[in-house]
Amino acid sequence: MQEIPVITIDGPAGAGKGTIATRLAQSFSWHILDSGSLYRLTAYSATQKACAFDDLPTLAEIARNLDIEFIPNEDGVVETILEGVNVSKAIRSESAGEAASQVASIIEVREALLQRQRDFAQAPGLVCDGRDMGTVVFPNASLKIYLTASAEVRAQRRLKQLKDHGLNANLAALIEEIQDRDYRDKNREHAPLLPADDAIEIDSSEMSIDSVVSKIKDLYDSNV
Ligand code: DC
Repeated sequence: MQEIPVITIDGPAGAGKGTIATRLAQSFSWHILDSGSLYRLTAYSATQKACAFDDLPTLAEIARNLDIEFIPNEDGVVETILEGVNVSKAIRSESAGEAASQVASIIEVREALLQRQRDFAQAPGLVCDGRDMGTVVFPNASLKIYLTASAEVRAQRRLKQLKDHGLNANLAALIEEIQDRDYRDKNREHAPLLPADDAIEIDSSEMSIDSVVSKIKDLYDSNV
């Protein structure tokens, strides 16, 4: 157990990690880390700076020096600011997710983002979500969750999320993209998506957000 309590939530795209992590962090009054946003921001910033994804030294430099702020708006929703510009919506598109998945397979980028992620572990605690939170970034976390759901359910959730953000998408295309992204995230050489040995797996396909949140809270309470 490490000093600062950390709950890690890993799993494939669209399993509900972000929503669940936000709800848990609010209920504990802990910090939150959406690690996927760091990969999205790296890819976005690289594209803005016309840095090719095979220019590894420049890509790592961009990841290491990301000038970002996470600022809650009046509705409590966290806005993502990159170099003073609100990019919250821009980094949520499917193409930004696709680009993020590409840069996330590069070891230089992952190493450049490692310490920055660990720095989020501040008192009174941290809830973080991603792909390698329990396996690589916080191997001593207090509780590790591996959250899954069927590809169909995840695509439907993603569709709703995109619509809520005012973006358009097609369900069949989303299922295919999710399966492609799963394949790449699970089969990459560095920090592939896989449950930590000591992670507890939760399949959220048939569960409400509330029931997943209360299950994780119960698990945490019975663990400490
Ligand atoms: O969770 P997300 O969809 O915002 O993540 C975008 C991409 O970033 C995803 O395809 C995989 C990658 N990622 C990662 O490799 N490691 C993490 N800890 C978080 C995300």
